[in-house]
Parts: sequence; C-alpha cells; structure tokens
Amino acid sequence: MDLDRYLKRQKSVIDRFLSSYIVSKKKDRHCPAILCEAMEYALMAGGKRVRPILAIAGYEAAGGTSRTIIPVAASLELIHTYSLIHDDLPAMDNDDFRRNKPTTHKVFGEGIAILAGDALLTDAFHIIAGVKADPQALLRVISELSYGAGPGGMVGGQTVDLIMEGTRAGRKDLLYIHTHKTGALIRASLRVGGIMAGCSPARLAALTAYGEKVGLAFQVVDDILDVTGSAEEMGKSPGADDARGKNTYPSTFGLKRSQRIAEKLIRESLESIRRFGTRAGPLAAIARYIISRRN
Ligand code: IPE
Ligand code: IPE
Ligand code: MG
Ligand code: MG
Ligand code: MG
Repeated sequence: MDLDRYLKRQKSVIDRFLSSYIVSKKKDRHCPAILCEAMEYALMAGGKRVRPILAIAGYEAAGGTSRTIIPVAASLELIHTYSLIHDDLPAMDNDDFRRNKPTTHKVFGEGIAILAGDALLTDAFHIIAGVKADPQALLRVISELSYGAGPGGMVGGQTVDLIMEGTRAGRKDLLYIHTHKTGALIRASLRVGGIMAGCSPARLAALTAYGEKVGLAFQVVDDILDVTGSAEEMGKSPGADDARGKNTYPSTFGLKRSQRIAEKLIRESLESIRRFGTRAGPLAAIARYIISRRN
C-alpha cells in the first residue's frame, strides 16, 4: 500500500470538487464577491483533506464503488473549514496564522470571516441535498453530519474547550472536549462512508469504533505538535495552547504519556477494522500516518 500515492490521489479528487464548488459560487449572482473570496481563501488554503479521505476510505472498505461519495466527502471539508475559521477568531483561539497564511479574519475582517464560516456550513448540506443517490441514505448522512457537527458533537466540544480555558479540566472533561471538538466529525466521516456504501450494522459499528479511536488520536497528536514546535510546520506559532491556558493531553499527562496514549488508540483503531481484511489497507495506513504526521 503506497499511502503517499493514495493520499495524493484522493486529495486531488477532493480539491477538484472543491474548486468547481467555488467556481459555482462565483457564478451565482446572488453570492456577494467578497463572501466568495473569503470562502475560497479558507477552503483552498492547503488543508490535508483528512476527513473527506477518511470518508472515501471507509466507503471503499465497506464495498462502495460509486462516485456519489465524492460530494458527500467534500461536504465534510466545508464543515471542517467553517470550524477552523470560527476557531481562529479573537473570541475563540485568537490565532493570526493557519497553514502559514494569515487567518481568514485577519484578511477579510471578523464579520466576513464569521459569515464565510456560516456559508460553508450551510452549503455543506446544500451539496448533499443535490447528490443523486438513495434519498434514505442521504437523510441518514444529513442526520449523522448535523449531529456530529452540532451541539452534541463538535460545537459541544468547542463550547467546553472555551469555557474551561484557563481552568484545569479533569480527565473526564478533557476526554469530552477532544472526543467532541475533533472526534465527532471524524467519527461522522467514517459513518457517512459506511452509510453511503449501504453496509451492515456490524460493519458500521466497526467503522465507528475505528473513527472514534482515530478521531481522539488525531487531536492528541495535534496537541503534541503544538508543543514540539512542529506547529511551525503547521503554519502556526508553537506553544499557543499553553499560552492560552488550553486543556490538552500534554498539559494533563505530559508529552511522553500523551504519545503513548495516541499510539495505543491507533493500535486499537487497527483492531477495529480487522474484519475488512485487505479492503481496509488505506484505513490502516491513514491510522499509522496520523500518529507520525508532522503537520
Ligand atoms: C486541525 O485539523 C484542527 C483539528 C481539529 C485538530 P487538520 O489538521 O485536519 O487541519 P487541516 O485542514 O489539514 O489544515
Ligand atoms: C480545533 O482544535 C477543533 C475545531 C476547530 C473544531 P484546535 O483549536 O486545537 O485546532 P488548531 O490547533 O487551532 O488547528
Ligand atoms: Mg480551538
Ligand atoms: Mg485553535
Ligand atoms: Mg490545536
């Protein structure tokens, strides 16, 4: 399994879809040019496209073969990008840089940045509504995504992350923050792949377990990278979490133990997808990549 090639190929499929999505926004005379520009700036800034790639890999592992997964997978990136725009705002993490570029509010101002986030979140569901696939499956997809991104998912996690800033969260709250602010959308990415492939409940449960482990590990590694200086490679200033009094795995468990926790989660994620055999090659490779990534 050549992961590099796989990631590049899937990323370019998603990037092509997202570029044509932006073109369609620019052609829509009802969409203000400044809003299109801010959406394009944030969406095409060079993200890794991890969530769409996980959705596609989960879909393929579950036996899916149609291209209808592409718009559904891309919609995850719209939701993710909205979450990053809002996460960087002065009222939240107050970050000036992301992916080595000034954050959206630094370029377009806070008002337009908030609205660009709103627009991307809303359009994610507009894209899904236009997919030519089984309407029942699409309804389930909408339910998964709206729950995973919403108050019981990502927004819930961001809420606790925000209100506990500067106070020491217990382990239970820390786990809640990480499994929700980041884990919930990654979990939903895998479930959406399985649902689009029409897989059995047992297989969906296996994809879900993989998504939960990988989703938590992803945020633990994000926290580690913020400390180890690799944040610079991520295009942000290192140590920002500590400076803001964020509750992170390294601040709670120390770096070494956080690394071991992430490694254990990845081993468990690999266990969960054993039933898929060789079809899960990409999922297994992505899990290993998540722990070794530098950005
Ligand atoms: C960063 O996500 C924010 C988290 C939820 C940890 P990614 O590391 O997937 O960000 P990009 O899109 O690749 O820049
Ligand atoms: C981001 O977590 C989670 C969401 C945006 C939902 P972080 O605040 O740790 O992400 P970075 O480090 O800014 O990318
Ligand atoms: Mg944050
Ligand atoms: Mg942040
Ligand atoms: Mg972070």
